[in-house]
Amino acid sequence: MAMVHVVRYESPQAWAEHVAARFASFLADQPAARVALPTGATPEPVYAGIVEAVRAGVASFGRAHVFLLDEFGGVPPDAKGRCDVMLHRALLDHVDVRPGHYHKLDPEAPDVEAMCAAYDAALKQPLDLVMLGIGRNGHVGMNEPGTPPDSGTRRVELAPSTTQASVRYFGEGAALPTWGITLGLAQILAARTIWILATGEGKADIVRDVLLEPVSASRPASLLRGHPDCWFLLDAAAASKLPVGVLTRG
Ligand code: F6R
Repeated sequence: MAMVHVVRYESPQAWAEHVAARFASFLADQPAARVALPTGATPEPVYAGIVEAVRAGVASFGRAHVFLLDEFGGVPPDAKGRCDVMLHRALLDHVDVRPGHYHKLDPEAPDVEAMCAAYDAALKQPLDLVMLGIGRNGHVGMNEPGTPPDSGTRRVELAPSTTQASVRYFGEGAALPTWGITLGLAQILAARTIWILATGEGKADIVRDVLLEPVSASRPASLLRGHPDCWFLLDAAAASKLPVGVLTRG
């Protein structure tokens, strides 16, 4: 069985600095990398660090391809919580990704199924890196509990808790999404490297369960444990319910 790497950083600041530096050196090694990127609260400080690295000339997206990991449907395309809008705000507006090198998922496409099939066709050449957050129910991207590992990019119904949690992105009183489009677990598992980011006490229980309980589609992130190069990059709070023996040296 593949061994998952679990790295713990002392503080949220140290975590963000290290993950950003890790991403900058990944891009330096593989300048033409194809990467899938998440949105949400977790990666924001990492993106701030990556923006700094690009501004300082330490990293460049000049030859890279960025694929959006997932997108909310049924809400206006310019809503502040849309994944595309969040990724622009945190990263894309400040770095040198070429316009044709950014690939997004379009819930407004007249034929969503065809749009998803085209995304998967573009990913026949596997991604070099998929960066992920993790939901409190173990979802990755919008692959909610019960998702089989061979699922492709597709329209999904969100778990009610995921809809509720999205109020943090869309704001109080705004219409919240009940569905979305997500990169499938098949494309995530086909990637050369997977990084799962988690910070804060609120993620400690799910991080423990995903790593220590039996692998199960009821916690989709646990399915990634079988991947040959999977890294859980955690701050101390998110790692606080793990026994020391589980940790890999950073
Ligand atoms: C976002 C995504 C989601 C989030 C997860 C955690 O693109 O795919 O799976 O990573 O819901 O969200 P935060 O980071 O806001 O706690």
